[in-house]
Amino acid sequence: MDICMIGTGYVGLVTGACLAHVGNKVICADVDISKIEKLNSGEIPIFEPGLEQLIKENLGNQRLEFTYDIKKAIESSTLIFISVGTPPCKDGSADLSYVFQAAHDIAASLNEYKIVVDKSTVPVGTAMKVKEIIQKNKMNHIPFSVVSNPEFLREGSAVRDIFDGDRIVIGVEDKKAQEIMKNLYEPFGVPIYITDIISAEMIKYASNAFLAAKISFINEIANICEKLGADVTAVACGMGMDKRIGPSFLNAGLGYGGSCFPKDVKAVMATAKENKYDFKILDAVMQVNDNQKKIFVQKVLNQLCDIKNPAVGVLGLAFKPHTDDIREAPSLYIIQELRETGIRIKAYDPIAISKTKEVISDIEYCSSLYEACNDVDAVLIVTEWDEFKNMNLDLVKRKMKAPLMIDGRNLFDPKRMAEKGFEYISVGRR
Ligand SMILES: NC(=O)c1ccc[n+]([C@@H]2O[C@H](COP(=O)([O-])OP(=O)(O)OC[C@H]3O[C@@H](n4cnc5c(N)ncnc54)[C@H](O)[C@@H]3O)[C@@H](O)[C@H]2O)c1
Repeated sequence: MDICMIGTGYVGLVTGACLAHVGNKVICADVDISKIEKLNSGEIPIFEPGLEQLIKENLGNQRLEFTYDIKKAIESSTLIFISVGTPPCKDGSADLSYVFQAAHDIAASLNEYKIVVDKSTVPVGTAMKVKEIIQKNKMNHIPFSVVSNPEFLREGSAVRDIFDGDRIVIGVEDKKAQEIMKNLYEPFGVPIYITDIISAEMIKYASNAFLAAKISFINEIANICEKLGADVTAVACGMGMDKRIGPSFLNAGLGYGGSCFPKDVKAVMATAKENKYDFKILDAVMQVNDNQKKIFVQKVLNQLCDIKNPAVGVLGLAFKPHTDDIREAPSLYIIQELRETGIRIKAYDPIAISKTKEVISDIEYCSSLYEACNDVDAVLIVTEWDEFKNMNLDLVKRKMKAPLMIDGRNLFDPKRMAEKGFEYISVGRR
């Protein structure tokens, strides 16, 4: 099939490359000219395992193309995916201006029957607004269909998630679009769930809100565990063995971050408010999430209060491992709060340093984790990279002024850390 992705970010680029891989002809279009130029010169603007090879292969066999000529990309395609950003507005609601711009572009370039697929995460009712915009602004009687096809990939494992996802949700209102969408996704071998458009839009928000709630729930349990002397990792393990609960998303830590959960939870809240519904659970989910980072900062400050001109090594900047994305990363809040109290920061991340430098310029960035641990009063673990799990603890200890590790990701066994001579403070464990 001839496919156009409007928006070549994490979702558009990865989905476009995967759809090309299974035999479609895909044009990834974006208004960001420098991004398109980079892609055309072989530079991949984001880090995602497996993506570079996938792009190279499909550029090579001419199934993948990058352009900033949105009109041409739409005109030469039958399936038009909208995969632009939907960042939060000041009041928490989703900013739909990019989605609506894409709808106007589609209306202006509607030269034959097309299926307009909304892949961006959008509030319930957006696909119908997209339909309205195209209907009002198109200059002919050419028919089109609208589909909601929310994306569930996770940054850091995006390619794997597309080929090995739990489900593909397709919200449709006509049989023709339903058949074409089913055929498109059949080669992936992932269960396809077909429903109406509004329910499909709600499935995405409800899923992210539920996962965020799971994270906040285990963080609340962790905070009580600290008071009671229970070990939250043991509690989560015992809970997760119950099939009704499941083991994933039960890692206590610094709360959720990234470009999706924070904004999607806020958007559900905004939708609830608009509909005069008081969504009590999600209000608490957000409060707990904000608090989790504050609790961590307080733990650090409590430990360093008697030290003159303290320095800390911050290990991890990305909001989670295997990505260079720092949007809403706990590291940003933690660094800013500590820096304000005069603490010197040495930071290291395997791949997110250059993106962090664009936001925070006045701290010391290090080229290895051991350099970040050199001559510091405490090491803070902020992202759970494997590299940190496998660090040489003896070497780290020798490099530090004092062996204090404050771990926001529960990477180590407290008993082992005590044997190694560390003062080790983690989350939900004494
Ligand atoms: N990143 C994720 O892990 C993830 C997962 C699932 C769903 N989503 C959702 O998918 C959507 C896209 O997210 P993302 O992370 O890929 O965003 P992103 O910011 O990485 O990419 C969006 C791209 O759209 C481009 N764009 C904006 N307006 C445009 C227009 N009118 N025409 C062409 N291009 C335009 C931007 O230049 C940018 O390159 C969001 O709604 C997000 O919530 C993201």
